[in-house]
Amino acid sequence: MKIPEKYQIKETITQNTYLVNGELKKWTGQTSEVYSTISSTENYQKTLLGTIPTLGETEALEALDSAVNAYNKGQGLWPTMKVVDRIACMEKFVAQMKTKREEIVKLLMWEIGKNLADSEKEFDRTVEYIYDTIEDYTQMDRDSAKFEKHGGVNAHIRRGPLGVVLCLGPYNYPLNETFALLIPAIIMGNTTIFKPAKFGVLLLSPLLEAFQNSFPKGVVNIIYGRGRTVASPIMKDGRVDVLALIGNSKSANALQSVHPKSNRLRMVLGLEAKNPAIVLKDADLELAINECIAGTTSFNGQRCTALKVLYVHEAIVDEFNKRFSEKVDALTFGNPWEDGAKLTPLPEPDKPAYIQELIDDATEKGAKIINKKGGETTDNYIFPAVLYPVSKDMRVYEEEQFGPVIPVISFSDIEEPLNDMAESNYGQQVSLFGKDTKTLAPLIDTLVNLVCRVNLNSSCQRGPDVYPFTGRKDSAVATLSVHDALRSFSIRTFVASKDNAYNNAILTELLQTRASNFVSTDYIL
Ligand code: G3H
Repeated sequence: MKIPEKYQIKETITQNTYLVNGELKKWTGQTSEVYSTISSTENYQKTLLGTIPTLGETEALEALDSAVNAYNKGQGLWPTMKVVDRIACMEKFVAQMKTKREEIVKLLMWEIGKNLADSEKEFDRTVEYIYDTIEDYTQMDRDSAKFEKHGGVNAHIRRGPLGVVLCLGPYNYPLNETFALLIPAIIMGNTTIFKPAKFGVLLLSPLLEAFQNSFPKGVVNIIYGRGRTVASPIMKDGRVDVLALIGNSKSANALQSVHPKSNRLRMVLGLEAKNPAIVLKDADLELAINECIAGTTSFNGQRCTALKVLYVHEAIVDEFNKRFSEKVDALTFGNPWEDGAKLTPLPEPDKPAYIQELIDDATEKGAKIINKKGGETTDNYIFPAVLYPVSKDMRVYEEEQFGPVIPVISFSDIEEPLNDMAESNYGQQVSLFGKDTKTLAPLIDTLVNLVCRVNLNSSCQRGPDVYPFTGRKDSAVATLSVHDALRSFSIRTFVASKDNAYNNAILTELLQTRASNFVSTDYIL
């Protein structure tokens, strides 16, 4: 099908600068080509989108120096700046970001294959997240515009920055999830080094100048290259205070382990999950099926919150499987801008082969593909296979598939899924489908102790972003939400003084002269 004019790739993007120390530094060294798995021609071939710098250890350490200097042992302009002024910088940034919507949405579609509606949603949700963060931080500042007095000690308590943050985001939400780390880290007064994910890199190019002109030099540093070459040396150096990463635990563990001072390193991590759906025998089947379709297939299952295994009560499993499979087969595959394209090309060229391995392993061990189109493969896609019955010895039970394959397990006793969840390495969310409150009540009371969000009669999801997003076990470290992220990237710090005339005169003068940015009871209206 012909690509509409406005979505065609007419020229490639040559990203030949990186942002360090407030400068968009020209790079003349080695570069890497960025391809889309979407074809621009009738006969399939990948589409070249542009090139990015392949930076090395020297440039990585240059970015680290820049962030460390901008923090300047707590004396930097940014960590000591008044909250109201930091907010003004963020407002300047987001105003410019909004003008880049069209370019970024187009690149989201080409780079990661996300459909038009979801790409637009990713952009809009991120802008909204920034405004909500500004609002929340403003309120936090208002709440701390005061003194407390206990036991003869006056205290002025605020949240202060932690230092230098290394920020690494995932390819499935290269804008939203990355910014959900980066924005709170920046606004709280930290200085940052940010490396884009393996896909979804060029979509940051339209924002480099906005980052450069909105924040003081060295506050935001953006580098390109392989994690092993650039992120590892930065961590090994030991001057990073926070590792902020959404991705997989292998990278997080590898990076954490090379930091020389593990007690000093704080971590904000969003990692793997294998969220189950549990469909009880009294569930509204139509509702459960529709939610499971959304949960397993949105963005081809490439979401950390995707439903990755379905437990269905044996009394209804045949009916569930029949209707669920039909609905999976009715989903339309197409390029991201095509009307109604629910399934879209996979950005990882080797993903169809990996999914096929999971299918082969499961079918060798006794599962069947129960939908007609399951496993049909094209150049950049493999149609979701619904596998039943799935058992614990299969790879698809154990591994986070992060792609289009749907394992179904039947159960007779609720203890079976509960025990599996307790044994699992993951603990992010669950979807629970049912109606009888006598059955639901004890289940809810247990499930909240195994995961961090129980979705009653709906699929799993992160949003709305004001709610806590976290996980147990190998699924997360720290909590993110508009408010919690501000806490995760800061620490309580305060000025204390004995309540006597000598100290109080000093405090009064500090407040009246407005000489300190920290000791201030100014109220942001
Ligand atoms: O990849 C994981 C994302 O946090 C999922 O967010 O539930 O809004 O798709 P979402």
